[in-house]
Amino acid sequence: MNILGIETSCDETSAAVLLDGRIGSNVISSQRCHTSFGGVVPELASREHERTIVSIVNSAVTEANITKNELDCIAATSGPGLIGAVMVGLCFAEGMAFALGIPFVPVNHIEAHMFSAFIPESPEHKSPEGPFISLTVSGGHTLLSLVREDLSYDVIGKTLDDAAGEAFDKTGKMLGLAYPAGPVIDRLAASGNPHFHAFPRALTSSSQTSRSYRGNFDFSFSGLKTSVQTWLQKHTAEFIQTHLHDIAASVQYAIVSVLTEKAVAAARHFRTDAISVAGGVSANSALRTAMQEACRHHGIRLYIPGTVYSTDNAAMIASLAALMLSKGTVRKNNYDVAPFASFAAGAIKASLK
Ligand SMILES: Nc1ncnc2c1ncn2[C@@H]1O[C@H](COP(=O)(O)OP(=O)(O)OP(=O)(O)O)[C@@H](O)[C@H]1O
Ligand SMILES: [Mg+2]
Repeated sequence: MNILGIETSCDETSAAVLLDGRIGSNVISSQRCHTSFGGVVPELASREHERTIVSIVNSAVTEANITKNELDCIAATSGPGLIGAVMVGLCFAEGMAFALGIPFVPVNHIEAHMFSAFIPESPEHKSPEGPFISLTVSGGHTLLSLVREDLSYDVIGKTLDDAAGEAFDKTGKMLGLAYPAGPVIDRLAASGNPHFHAFPRALTSSSQTSRSYRGNFDFSFSGLKTSVQTWLQKHTAEFIQTHLHDIAASVQYAIVSVLTEKAVAAARHFRTDAISVAGGVSANSALRTAMQEACRHHGIRLYIPGTVYSTDNAAMIASLAALMLSKGTVRKNNYDVAPFASFAAGAIKASLK
């Protein structure tokens, strides 16, 4: 089966083709028009998707070495995301599927991140087989979920305020770094001292008595943001500039150690022997290393997609659509799907059961 996936939930326009379960193409265009605003401007994002979507879809189909008439199904993100941005990809995909007379499958963007371990990255790719803990860390979400063998899942923890990606981006902005600051902090931190300053790590064993901490899988990053802000106010611009790498490494350590500790604690609590980490922040090199070390130590299998599949991409949309179709529970020929802005876990999760 040949599936075209389309992703436009934020500031990446992406289209991918899955050819009988292997990736034929995964074209991603990242919008540059937001850089000077320090964040994504929703209207500009929609306009940019509108401007590029035809050429991105054409490139994906051409790179996969097929024609549009050889597509069997089209899938697109129906939410969550910036509603105008989602609508561009969703309307385009529904219209294209309708015109070709093939099924359309709506995909939940966050579930697509969550199930990234199933993207067939290579012929040797191995996906999780039993239950696993999913740590989904992106620009707008931070979720810990228990995924069962039948791929039904329960969210067991989430952020009470900022997402992990937001924590990177907002503290980076305070340091004068360009948006998105996550990858910049990652680069700066590589040559910095993570123990230069101990920024707070909320809701962890370091901040709670072990009794109240046990079984608490929620996250909170707003205290870190405030702490960085007040700490920066106490130091001169020259001092901050001199120690930029150390500050970046210390901020990164505070975020990464919380994520790692909680994911491993969840795996031990629910007695699962596998963890999958996905979403833009899973591209972070320190998080990858920390998760690898912690999982090795506890005998846990770790699944992290290649960095191109960590941030927004359409291969994850096509891949989840394939998974849903293989379960046989997705409604076909539905060209009337409504977009949604916030994570409605129940909406599509039900069709994975
Ligand atoms: N190497 C990195 N280190 C830390 N953070 C990173 C890295 N690369 C990307 N990020 C962060 O990942 C986020 C973008 O991820 P992603 O594209 O999955 O989010 P989004 O789609 O905007 O949000 P969501 O998926 O929640 O709707 C940004 O916050 C960015 O700073
Ligand atoms: Mg995303």
